[in-house]
Amino acid sequence: MIPQDFVDQLLSRVDIVDVVDRYVPLKKAGQNYLACCPFHKEKSPSFTVSPSKQFYHCFGCGAHGSAIGFVMEYQGLGFVDAVRLLAEGIGMQVPQEKVANPEASRKARERQMSLEEAMQLAAGYYKQQLKSAPNAIAYLKGRGVTGEVAARFGLGYAPGDWQNLQAVFPQYQDDKLADAGLVIVNEEKGQRYDRFRDRVMFPIRNQRGAIIGFGGRVMGKGEPKYLNSPETPLFEKGRELYGLYEARQSIREKNRVLVVEGYMDVVALSQYGIAYAVATLGTATTGDHVRKLLRHADQVYYCFDGDNAGRKAAWRALENSLPQLQDGKSLNFLFLPSEHDPDSYVREFGAEAFEKLLEEQSLPLSAYFTRELTGRVDMNTPEGRADLIRQASPLLAQIAAPALGFIIRKRLAELAGIDVDEFDMLTTGKPRPERKGKREYRLPEESHRQIHTPIIRKQIKWLLMNPAWAGDVRLPDSVPLSDELACFAMLAESVQEHDQPPNTAQLLEGLRGTPYEGMIDSILQQAMQDQDEFADPGEDDRTQFQDGNEKLMKMLREAQLERLKLKDRQEGLTPEEKALFRELLKELLGASN
Ligand code: UTP
Ligand code: MN
Repeated sequence: MIPQDFVDQLLSRVDIVDVVDRYVPLKKAGQNYLACCPFHKEKSPSFTVSPSKQFYHCFGCGAHGSAIGFVMEYQGLGFVDAVRLLAEGIGMQVPQEKVANPEASRKARERQMSLEEAMQLAAGYYKQQLKSAPNAIAYLKGRGVTGEVAARFGLGYAPGDWQNLQAVFPQYQDDKLADAGLVIVNEEKGQRYDRFRDRVMFPIRNQRGAIIGFGGRVMGKGEPKYLNSPETPLFEKGRELYGLYEARQSIREKNRVLVVEGYMDVVALSQYGIAYAVATLGTATTGDHVRKLLRHADQVYYCFDGDNAGRKAAWRALENSLPQLQDGKSLNFLFLPSEHDPDSYVREFGAEAFEKLLEEQSLPLSAYFTRELTGRVDMNTPEGRADLIRQASPLLAQIAAPALGFIIRKRLAELAGIDVDEFDMLTTGKPRPERKGKREYRLPEESHRQIHTPIIRKQIKWLLMNPAWAGDVRLPDSVPLSDELACFAMLAESVQEHDQPPNTAQLLEGLRGTPYEGMIDSILQQAMQDQDEFADPGEDDRTQFQDGNEKLMKMLREAQLERLKLKDRQEGLTPEEKALFRELLKELLGASN
């Protein structure tokens, strides 16, 4: 773990304009800098970098983040490596790296670059080899793959010898070949040999298009069917999606992304004109995957084989999706007939039939969720229905989309034969995962939650763009906070933890890895519609923010008052609650004068 203080310091010393400009030349435009977005294809620049916020946002595709986030996305690095790279660039030493060793970390960065080069070189070689490999060509033809689509995905062939790569790497002993996962070293025997031999090669690219790994398919029988690159400094399976780079354009146009299981599924679908498919890399769909997908499109479809393994994979995908859900986005699950995968289905029935199936037969997450859970218990007995509540509870607690979460709870309550308030009482007793174990935030009543949400989201956006305004935020201690409200409170608190108001980038980095990350992502995507959002605020804006806070306070007090009234009628109030009641009333009356 890198301490938050260090991340903070780093962000106050690097300048995002320099960082981005190193990779993507920027042009000054008013207070900000512009370029064509490196994360999606565009002709006129909507990628905007704000020096005052130390934050970038693309008004075309919604990509955004700090200097750290930029390096992660652009270089395809993990958080720690990105921090290291930035720190080293300005001569800061990342704590926990015990010895100060700028030389070693410079080497690490150079290695990074050269690993990419190595992968690039290997991919070129495999591609070249395919041309003179009749057996591999016959294999691909036999599977119906056209030359055009093979070229689109850069397919190749690794010949059968043990040290093929010597042809392009005269320094076959170089450690970087092993580091890149291209070569396997047998220390005992002092031998090294190519990882991929006699296989059809599928290069895996990151978002930038750089090759970071390979999948190699055996052509006849043999184990494993697919051999994949190991995890390397370039390649983290839980973050990458096969085909995303190739699919970007189509995903944007359709506002839809289809997640399938296999390399060949992506290739076949693309060949048939369904170019918005990506595949997880032989691993479960992770939260990182989902976040990435939702950044690219509003509708995500998971398509799994109809077999048992497919069902398991689907449920895992659902579980990992819950904390990433956003109202306004939809996740859907399609189960193919058990004898098919997307590859075989599209080849047998064509693209139109496949898309029809996708549109008509997929289950929205909510329906799949209830179907699966009710299917596990005996709904005809009270015991079974009680078990449903027990099983659903931890999952429901993770749903990040307030409105959808409510609808699902309501449906489950109906099915369990109780009303939703009772259901909530039974399921939401547990504390939700919170940052740094500080304040305890609980769920408010549904009705309040939904009225407030748009206002709160707007306040969050203002606060993110202008952290120094946190002093204007006052939230009543007595009101339980959850979801957006908790997020708003966290942000304000987190600003107050700093001696100086942090910039947007520092504030956001403080929330990395917390349950609020996905929510913030979605707020920024929705709220940042045009360049004005990025301009430095005027006095009017600040007043609007303050008015928003007032409004919010008032609504919260009213909500709290209502709740106390209800409790008073039903079971009576404790002396503390009575005092609170009087105070709230006084404040409300005072505020309206
Ligand atoms: P499948 O076994 O469903 O194969 O694996 P497939 O995609 O239909 O492949 P073809 O059509 O027989 O060529 C789905 C995915 O799981 C991963 C690969 O990413 C594969 O595309 N996998 C599978 C492996 O990584 N290794 C394996 O040995 C098998
Ligand atoms: Mn297949």
